[in-house]
Amino acid sequence: MRIGIAADHGGFELKEQITTKLQDSNFEIEDYGAHRLSPGDDYPDFVIPLAKDIALKKIERGIVICGSGIGACIAANKIKEVRAGTIHDGYSARQGVEDDNMNVICLGGRVIGWALAWHLVQIFLSAQFSGQERHKRRLAKVNAEETKS
Ligand code: RB5
Repeated sequence: MRIGIAADHGGFELKEQITTKLQDSNFEIEDYGAHRLSPGDDYPDFVIPLAKDIALKKIERGIVICGSGIGACIAANKIKEVRAGTIHDGYSARQGVEDDNMNVICLGGRVIGWALAWHLVQIFLSAQFSGQERHKRRLAKVNAEETKS
């Protein structure tokens, strides 16, 4: 599975830690930056390119990190085909994929520590969409809104 990762200054340190763990686990990773800690940088500059590559199917899953995990999530969800969620618990990390076909996990670098973040990333990456009829039906209703706007 090809994975993208992106963070602003609020998530930079966590991005570096998660990237190392992913590399150690032999995942194929595309790093969309930031490539250095810069306190004045803006999360959309890193998150939007990753989200567009999800839509283009260049990567299958994304991990985006800002201070709270909120701004990055709002930005990612602006791109069609992206289903991003801010996740800080294990139940949602799995259910978000199984039920809602979440393809981008958003983390708050100022909210959780690296060990919990890594735990959640592993759950997210190992989960698969169930494909159950009721979940497909709900997603179709969500997707219908994308074509209206
Ligand atoms: C940056 O200071 C901070 O606002 C950003 O990382 C993020 O938390 C926004 O949601």
